Amino acid sequence: MTSAAPDVIPLSFKVNGSAVELTVPGARRLSRVLREDLGLTGTKVGCDAGDCGACTVLLGGEPICSCLVAAGQADGSEITTVEGLASRSPLFGRLQESFLSHGAAQCGACTPGMLVAATALLEKNSSPNEVEVVDAIGGVLCRCTGYRKIIEAIMDAGVKPQSLGVREAPAGKAVGARLVRLDGQKKVAGTEIFGADEIPKEALGVRVIRSPHHRARFHFGDLAGFVAIHPGVLLVLTAKDIPGVDCYGVIPRCADQPVFAHTEARHRGEAVASIVGEPEVLEKLDLGEFPITWEQLPPIKSIEQALADSAPRIHEHREGNILVRGRVVCGDVDRALGEADVVVEGEFDTGFVEHAYIEPEAGFARRVGDTIEIQACTQSPYMDRHDIAKVLGLAPEKVRIIPTAVGGGFGSKLDLSVQPFIALAAWKLNRPVRMVYSRTESIVSTTKRHPAHMRLRAGASRDGKLTALDFSADFNTGAYSSWGPTVAGRVPVHGSGPYVVPNYRALTRAVHTNIVPAGAFRGFGVPQAAIAQEQIYDELADRVGMDRLEFRIVNALRNDTPTVTGQVIGEGVGIRACFEALRSKWMSARGEIARFNGSTDAPLRRGIGVAGMWYGCGNTSLPNPSTVRIGLKRDGRIALHQGAVDIGQGSNTIVTQICADALGAPITHFDLISGDTSITPDCGKTSASRQTFVTGKAAHMAGTKLRERILKLGGACKCGEIRFDEGSVTVVEGDRSRLLDLTSLQLDDLGYVITCEETFDPPITPLNENGQGDPYAVYGFGAHMAEIEVDVELGTVRVLKVTAVHDVGKAINPTLIEGQIEGGVAQGIGMALMEEFFPGKGENLHDYLIPSAGDVPQVESILIEEPSSIGPFGAKGIGEQAVIPTAPAILNAIHDALGVRIYRVPATPDRVRAAILAKESGGPRG
Ligand code: FES
Ligand code: FES
Repeated sequence: MTSAAPDVIPLSFKVNGSAVELTVPGARRLSRVLREDLGLTGTKVGCDAGDCGACTVLLGGEPICSCLVAAGQADGSEITTVEGLASRSPLFGRLQESFLSHGAAQCGACTPGMLVAATALLEKNSSPNEVEVVDAIGGVLCRCTGYRKIIEAIMDAGVKPQSLGVREAPAGKAVGARLVRLDGQKKVAGTEIFGADEIPKEALGVRVIRSPHHRARFHFGDLAGFVAIHPGVLLVLTAKDIPGVDCYGVIPRCADQPVFAHTEARHRGEAVASIVGEPEVLEKLDLGEFPITWEQLPPIKSIEQALADSAPRIHEHREGNILVRGRVVCGDVDRALGEADVVVEGEFDTGFVEHAYIEPEAGFARRVGDTIEIQACTQSPYMDRHDIAKVLGLAPEKVRIIPTAVGGGFGSKLDLSVQPFIALAAWKLNRPVRMVYSRTESIVSTTKRHPAHMRLRAGASRDGKLTALDFSADFNTGAYSSWGPTVAGRVPVHGSGPYVVPNYRALTRAVHTNIVPAGAFRGFGVPQAAIAQEQIYDELADRVGMDRLEFRIVNALRNDTPTVTGQVIGEGVGIRACFEALRSKWMSARGEIARFNGSTDAPLRRGIGVAGMWYGCGNTSLPNPSTVRIGLKRDGRIALHQGAVDIGQGSNTIVTQICADALGAPITHFDLISGDTSITPDCGKTSASRQTFVTGKAAHMAGTKLRERILKLGGACKCGEIRFDEGSVTVVEGDRSRLLDLTSLQLDDLGYVITCEETFDPPITPLNENGQGDPYAVYGFGAHMAEIEVDVELGTVRVLKVTAVHDVGKAINPTLIEGQIEGGVAQGIGMALMEEFFPGKGENLHDYLIPSAGDVPQVESILIEEPSSIGPFGAKGIGEQAVIPTAPAILNAIHDALGVRIYRVPATPDRVRAAILAKESGGPRG
């Protein structure tokens, strides 16, 4: 958007080989010029501060962060963006193909920056080694992939033919194939549309006024006067302007969050008002002039403060600041602990963890007659629709949610972010309204992983059988409910780990504080629980004198043993197989580590750790349906309406693979219609590792039904075959074949020759007052083994290798599953060693550190297939599962190396060093 302001200067560049002349402010960021003035939105903006590398372009052939370069500095330069790499470098086509083949692009938000950095490297060195690649991409962050597939893709692009991924599979052979992701091409071309990538003509902007204090009363001054003296500002919106109910939340029975706080802000970053106007005016606005006065109140920041008798209630109706409690009890835990041969105990703490996806929240809304349309990044279009309808006082059918590509979500984009602000403003003004969160706005206002304080006592018999576990946990759920009830409900079910624990008591509480809400983050509290339970089990194994892996094998759940909720899963319990797959590697790695530790003079100690996990796929004892529609078109192609939002995990591809094999059609015959509440049925939210299992099953059912209907149309029995050729469909039974004349058939109301719509809701039962019942129909299992090295003098921990075994039931697409595992391992490394968000501090990606390419070691993925008869082709989920065992395996490895246990994560160098010193001095534990 060019302004006539006096600071504008004429500039000329060469961009992607073409001369460009424009007049813009000389100080404007080059990234913005490229995206907004030249429409080259392949260049992404993740931080605007030089921290993430998403905006990397070539300037004079060198990779630079375009958000750090002023347009005036680039005058006369040659610039290449991802859109121009193909014409610049003959290597680029191979690099793109290699990315696709390796599955190196998941959400795709980092992909343009990665491709630019890689091209710069390959132009100088066509066969780089791993160190050179890591060095070249070291400034570009990826939150999804764990970098391993990116590194392999770049190394292979220069020297090897591409053979890993396949573009198509014969009919009936899609499941199990390493199919290249169906939406991958746009990601490697830089043409994928994320939340910030579309700017409707005439779009207005929004700036939100947020509380700078953790808790504060506030009073507005003359809002109308403020609008009047700022030409270009059209409206100020506050809670008084909400036409419907100013209360939303992902769990309707606990909904408690206003779009705008009414009189008191309950957390730093909470919205109290928004200013709507012309974007260039808003940009220059000094928010310090906004007429509001703040009266700071003493905040409650910790669980301990919130539970104190004297603590004020954050929500009047929630006694003791307790949002919700969770409970699972079986057997007699006190008696069993009293009788156990060995009892160990410990208290563990974890901190807030930021999702740190590369794409900040963004989107736009527009009013279309009596309907509001919102195009934004989201993991849950139908839930957004419900809440926006409630806020605007509309029928849900009058709200259309069009999800964009999502540049990483990991749970946080399940909650509303920009949506209510843009929807309300667009509804009021009848003009498109767009909003893009800054990185700081994203960090201060969106959900985090719950910090946990956990207390455990565990008992075992002399022969190494677990006899009892007493587990209690409090979670800091922040100011609003978000997914607090889910975390408090899921953790007691999973707190035992994937083991037989005959006497068990798990009690949890989600506790309100004046901190930004904690919500969903990959695992819903189970990663925190695993950090405690897996360390306690290591202690037990040591006390009974058993090998730590063998202890887990002895106690692992089996098909016929009850879980702590009394559920006998009956089939597909693959945890023992996961541990056994590690046995030989465990033995040999232990030997190598012992040799290393015995031979080095350096202040280095190596260690090895193992941890197990289980995770129920889908909602905990709640309905959880997905509906998939499939239509046969007159040209013989198949329209697949699947509303599972692909946030990078691959549901667009995996659901299609499942449907293709159920129907018996080649994958190339499918036209994918992704989530849009006006054209795709509800496939639920993308969370809880449910899409492969639940939406995949619905797709399997819909494909099977369509197959039956086509066979019937062709006069064949169910055992007949269908041949899908280009433009035709033939039904074959024995030596009789019949070509279907689809063009002569009437179309149904949805525009298809045949439409099938199927819904799947997993069979579960409610939990009783002791948490007994069948909370999930399908569980995923896994075990990770971490090999680490500690610098004893510095307290730094380096992860050398992670071996990750997962029982996925059936590997629908091994490449995508490995990608989930490697990404989960990277997030687990971050959680174990470096990531902690301190509210009010370091609200950027400079201070909040996530693993970069150099932090993630080799990850060996081993897939176990213990099928579930309920899952499609036996499949289970993998998304949440992958992150759970990494951190406890690393923490157990630290103990193995040093003999000290880290009770508070992350195990930062200062904490590790303090634990070493405490051990040396015989003082308190670390
Ligand atoms: S947007 Fe430029 S480095 Fe993050
Ligand atoms: S694929 Fe790298 S951030 Fe999502």
